[in-house]
Amino acid sequence: MLKFVRVRHYSLAELICEGLELHNFVKRQPEVILKSPHYAIYEGEKLAGWIGCARRRGAVFEVRHLTVRPELRGKGVGLAAVEFMMRLLRQHGAVCCYAHIRRDNIASQSLFQKCGFTLMREGLVRKYLKLLREGP
Ligand SMILES: CC(C)(COP(=O)(O)OP(=O)(O)OC[C@H]1O[C@@H](n2cnc3c(N)ncnc32)[C@H](O)[C@@H]1OP(=O)(O)O)[C@@H](O)C(=O)NCCC(=O)NCCS
Repeated sequence: MLKFVRVRHYSLAELICEGLELHNFVKRQPEVILKSPHYAIYEGEKLAGWIGCARRRGAVFEVRHLTVRPELRGKGVGLAAVEFMMRLLRQHGAVCCYAHIRRDNIASQSLFQKCGFTLMREGLVRKYLKLLREGP
């Protein structure tokens, strides 16, 4: 059973930044993690990973900083995290969301496609987008 808990403590944000550098190859400061909604994912008492989002403009959000700890991959945690984030964004009136994913990151692209995201822009970093509401 997975639990999603909003990251509010600096020490946890620091831990996430270390993990992002190690697993996602991005350097972030804890302040960035605390400023916009980020959720730690727990399996029981164990930190299984994290996911965040940021409002970009209007009702458009970026889903970012998704990581599942290596020993817990391949068990549906990533899928549950993206579905959780999409539910949360819908509840907050988001119209669409997107994710930037490196071209060589096959696992993440496959995950987001499975969640209904479609490729919008090619490049070294690809942009995947999903509409969260039907048009009028
Ligand atoms: C990408 C990542 C979050 C996936 O998490 P996960 O918990 O292992 O994913 P899940 O077990 O929920 O898998 C869901 C789907 O993702 C895809 N997927 C996951 N791992 C995959 C792999 N190694 N190869 C190909 N597809 C993969 C599959 O479509 C899978 O569905 P399936 O099991 O029906 O085949 C994880 O590998 C990770 O943390 N990677 C390092 C950090 C990273 O790349 N983050 C994303 C930044 S954009």
